[in-house]
Amino acid sequence: MQKAANALWTPQFCPQQEPLSRRKGRMFPWALAVLCALCTATSATEKCIVPADQQSLVTELQRRMESSVVLQSPPNPSILIALNLAGTQDGTKEKLLVQQIKDRVIKEGTAEMTSGEVALYVLALLSSCEDPKCVTADINLVEVLKLKTKEELTYLSDHGTPKTTFYQLSLDTLALCLEGANVKEAALSLTKEALAKDFFVDTGAMATLALTCVHNGLVKAEQSRILESIHEALDKLREQILRAVETNTANIYSIGLALQALNVTPVSYPSGDWSCSQTLAKVLTEISQGAFDNPMAAAQILPSLVGKTYLNVIRLSCLTGKVMVEYTIINHLRGQNFTHTIRVSVPKGSVLLSVLQAAQQNNPQDFSYKTKQTSWGLMVVSINSCAANSNDKTYWQFFNGTKPLEQGVDSYVPSNNEHIEAIFSTY
Ligand SMILES: *[C@@H]1O[C@H](CO)[C@@H](O)[C@H](O)[C@H]1NC(C)=O
Ligand SMILES: *[C@@H]1O[C@H](CO)[C@@H](O)[C@H](O)[C@H]1NC(C)=O
Repeated sequence: MQKAANALWTPQFCPQQEPLSRRKGRMFPWALAVLCALCTATSATEKCIVPADQQSLVTELQRRMESSVVLQSPPNPSILIALNLAGTQDGTKEKLLVQQIKDRVIKEGTAEMTSGEVALYVLALLSSCEDPKCVTADINLVEVLKLKTKEELTYLSDHGTPKTTFYQLSLDTLALCLEGANVKEAALSLTKEALAKDFFVDTGAMATLALTCVHNGLVKAEQSRILESIHEALDKLREQILRAVETNTANIYSIGLALQALNVTPVSYPSGDWSCSQTLAKVLTEISQGAFDNPMAAAQILPSLVGKTYLNVIRLSCLTGKVMVEYTIINHLRGQNFTHTIRVSVPKGSVLLSVLQAAQQNNPQDFSYKTKQTSWGLMVVSINSCAANSNDKTYWQFFNGTKPLEQGVDSYVPSNNEHIEAIFSTY
């Protein structure tokens, strides 16, 4: 087993079938963080949902957007994101789009793509539960995006403006943040610029989504110094977006993003400073008048209509068909004393060995293991270099909660939310 390898630079780790299973565990805390930020953000404001008698407008919008898919070339990643956030029945259009996106990357390469295009592709693949790090064994879109973002930042510090736009730099930051990459430098630049300049509505909205993602990660890491200026920037952006929405200067392309941004801002606001349902009612009227018939405009507004934002792109849907397992390893017996716990998700029906593999892949420092084939099946002979020893009569005993497992790791199938413990024991 390879240990402590930097997953970002090891394309040979690209899995053949289950593209995302190994990543779920690592991403899940993020998903939770985002979820919780959303629930506090939305519970503080009024409920803002499409009334049942107007639901058909949303369905129709979605249907038209879906039927635009075959006609579009190059593929439009924003449509894929919107369809995935809205959730469709059969998923054939989504599969087609994923394939078109991958084909384009493979055929045309990424050299000519702007950072924002790469970021949208990353978001689109993530929304489809595909791994953007492994488009093929050699194409890692997240690494490409990191390099292109770096270029943007270098250009920004040399010329006072990004190589492309602040909108794209925001999109880059959002995609990298959702991927779990370190985006502190980009976030700081965005924060500084947001405070110094007046962004257009769509730029401000995208910057809000990006900084909210970063904010939620930093809250967990208790990095309060940076948080303060991010708060300040989010405050200012929100005010600008609000003003644009209230004075109707947000056009049909930016209103969708503006709504997403207003729905996520984690900073608490006096209630009543913005009526989400009023804005929504206006948008619905415009939809009925055909204002959003353009698939791109539809793609921007649809997430808000179904109560989602680009922050929801990660994982949530990917967890269906998955089981979550909490895995703890304990050695209080010999050698180095340790207790580690990790939560991983594996495809439903996976054997316990998959949990061990996922734990090791997500955190090789704390969760390495070795197995040996015996006549009774596969045995875990060592965890974190703490090896079973027949002279000492030591072994690794596995439990479901407090009940010892009666099957081996290659046959036991954990159920959802199970707590598996491996305890170094004696017999
Ligand atoms: C290992 O650590 C636990 C918790 O800190 C402690 O209770 C236990 O006595 C330690 N055992 C050994 C062998 O050091
Ligand atoms: C593990 O234990 C829980 C609680 O006792 C039980 O509900 C569950 O069925 C067990 N899992 C398996 C796979 O036996």
